[in-house]
Amino acid sequence: MKFCNKNFRKTFLRDWLIIGCLVFFTFTGNRLSGKVCAQSRQGEKIYLQKCAKCHGRRGEGVEPVYPEPLVGDLSIKELAEYIEETMPEKKPEECVGPEATEVAKHIHYQFYSITAQARNKPPRVAFSRLTNRQYRNCVADLALSFQGERRIGTKRGLTLRHYKNRGLNKNNLVVEKLVPVVDISFDKEGKPDEKIEFEKFTTTWKGS
Ligand code: HEC
Repeated sequence: MKFCNKNFRKTFLRDWLIIGCLVFFTFTGNRLSGKVCAQSRQGEKIYLQKCAKCHGRRGEGVEPVYPEPLVGDLSIKELAEYIEETMPEKKPEECVGPEATEVAKHIHYQFYSITAQARNKPPRVAFSRLTNRQYRNCVADLALSFQGERRIGTKRGLTLRHYKNRGLNKNNLVVEKLVPVVDISFDKEGKPDEKIEFEKFTTTWKGS
């Protein structure tokens, strides 16, 4: 067997090349992510020192100074400028320049931006948890959307029906109308509509 044939050298070189690349990326990758971490840690530190008392540790808001969550759609640059000029409230000079930028980066990534909000609050309804009816509606909506039809009609509200006796007998139906809110009041005689003559009646609201 020839030890140093051409093929052997080729594979040997290729293997070392791959190992070399892996080592390179592992090291540079670590260095890069280390940098990002250091930055956001600095931003976090400043935020906790100078902002959290009014905005909460995770931007959830603090009663009564600023109860709303700290969310919005400014870019990091715009956010940094806003912070530089106005925050902390009444003492904007306490967070300027690189500090303002670090804080802006931190809050933007952690909870302020739309992406962060979506990451922190994933939609509650998972597809597999839809009920049969919700699932059918979803599919129907989806199918309709391809036809470019308006999905929401102009009529809004629930269908209110009064029956002048107990039960849902059609012959007893005296009132049928679309109402925007469920609002029922009983007059002196204890009936919700003039057309009902008896004390016994049935009322239904239908719709969604
Ligand atoms: C003393 C309480 C207080 C401190 C400390 C404070 N803020 Fe504020 N912050 C407020 C109030 C009050 C507002 C609302 C100001 C307004 O609407 O004019 C606000 C508004 C903001 C907004 C704009 C929110 C929006 O969408 O309108 C941002 C961003 C913000 N603060 C970031 C920060 C950062 C970053 C720090 C720390 C450097 C900080 N704040 C420190 C009280 C504070």
